[in-house]
Amino acid sequence: MKKIKTAVIGCGVVSEVYMTNLKSRFRVIDLVACSDLDTARMKERAEQFQIKAMTSEEIFADPEIELVVNLTNPIAHYAVTKAALLAGKHVYSEKMLAVTLKQAEELCELADSKHLRLGVAPDTFLGATVQTAIEMIQRGMIGKPLSFVASVTRDFGITSEVLPHLRKLGAGILFDVGCYYMTALASIFGPAEKVFSFAGIHEPVRRDRRISNHTYGEQYQVETENVISANIRYRNGVMGTFHLNSDTVFDETRILKIYGTEGILSIGDPNVFASSLILETPFNAMTELPLLHGFQNECRGVAVAEMAWAILEQRPHRASKEMGYHLLEMLEGMLLSNQSDTAYLLQSDFDTPAPLPCGYVGKPEYGIWAPTEETALV
Ligand SMILES: NC(=O)c1ccc[n+]([C@@H]2O[C@H](COP(=O)([O-])OP(=O)(O)OC[C@H]3O[C@@H](n4cnc5c(N)ncnc54)[C@H](O)[C@@H]3O)[C@@H](O)[C@H]2O)c1
Repeated sequence: MKKIKTAVIGCGVVSEVYMTNLKSRFRVIDLVACSDLDTARMKERAEQFQIKAMTSEEIFADPEIELVVNLTNPIAHYAVTKAALLAGKHVYSEKMLAVTLKQAEELCELADSKHLRLGVAPDTFLGATVQTAIEMIQRGMIGKPLSFVASVTRDFGITSEVLPHLRKLGAGILFDVGCYYMTALASIFGPAEKVFSFAGIHEPVRRDRRISNHTYGEQYQVETENVISANIRYRNGVMGTFHLNSDTVFDETRILKIYGTEGILSIGDPNVFASSLILETPFNAMTELPLLHGFQNECRGVAVAEMAWAILEQRPHRASKEMGYHLLEMLEGMLLSNQSDTAYLLQSDFDTPAPLPCGYVGKPEYGIWAPTEETALV
């Protein structure tokens, strides 16, 4: 069976789970190399996963490597993806596609002109909860979906001091976490039509409060909006509100509820592959639904494997650049709407990704004849 030789660029926090999954979970991927500007990190990961440590330039020049997984920081996504595409590699990029829509547009055009695949995270929408939610909605369990409420809040003060890139352009709560909620809804409802929002940067100038930091007491700037309230209407007529606040108390709180004519479906946490899926209907007690799909644990990288299968089968991949571009336009549109005090009309379009088949719950004890999770991607 042909495997796609793959290299990871960016050996930071998230690379460990990616490399674990790409190395051993998906037989379509042959993970061969990794690179990072930080050579110590690069060598550590290469040793951990028994792959080659290479510079990005060496990866680009290697004719055997077909696919690059871009796990650099959001600000570096554009340059790394562009260089990889120019070198003739397919690319899968962590979210978002780029920091600005203009950069994202250039990357999409480049991929098209070179007939290369470009895939974009997040891939949690391929997880068991969102896929089961799609199945339930398609089976009519909540009747006709009409509206939704999405909300995510967290204590930005703490997270941004641990992860300073979260204060930067393109990485605030809207882009860093909001994208999971909007990707889940995009995979359920398809493209959006219009957004209208209010947004602000609460306390833009701050001082580092972490006593253990060498930057303790130093002043820093919050560059991105941290309180946002948006209204969204999808082309299928579904409408709803999206609330984000990264300057409140406690760890992350998450709400994603879809309201239909016959019931209400609550999707636990769209930032993970499996969380509780609750159905409320007038004539039944609140019920936690069984998850019908595979990918129930930490599967980051599943969309890389799905894209690799799609390359081999010459069919579209699900975490498409068109969907990634549309989501970036939507989130940017929320900020533009706030600045202009008018609704933002989305221009871009994408094909709603085909749902994964259900029943692939990944139980290897059923033996060789049982369907596996990867079978669902083929
Ligand atoms: N940390 C998480 O839990 C998490 C979860 C999901 C997605 N993500 C996304 O994954 C990406 C990486 O996140 P992270 O938390 O691993 O960040 P990180 O800062 O821990 O790691 C990023 C790595 O990229 C390297 N890098 C930056 N520019 C580079 C370049 N031009 N060439 C080569 N290497 C370069 C950095 O040296 C660093 O080691 C981001 O897009 C983030 O939004 C992170």
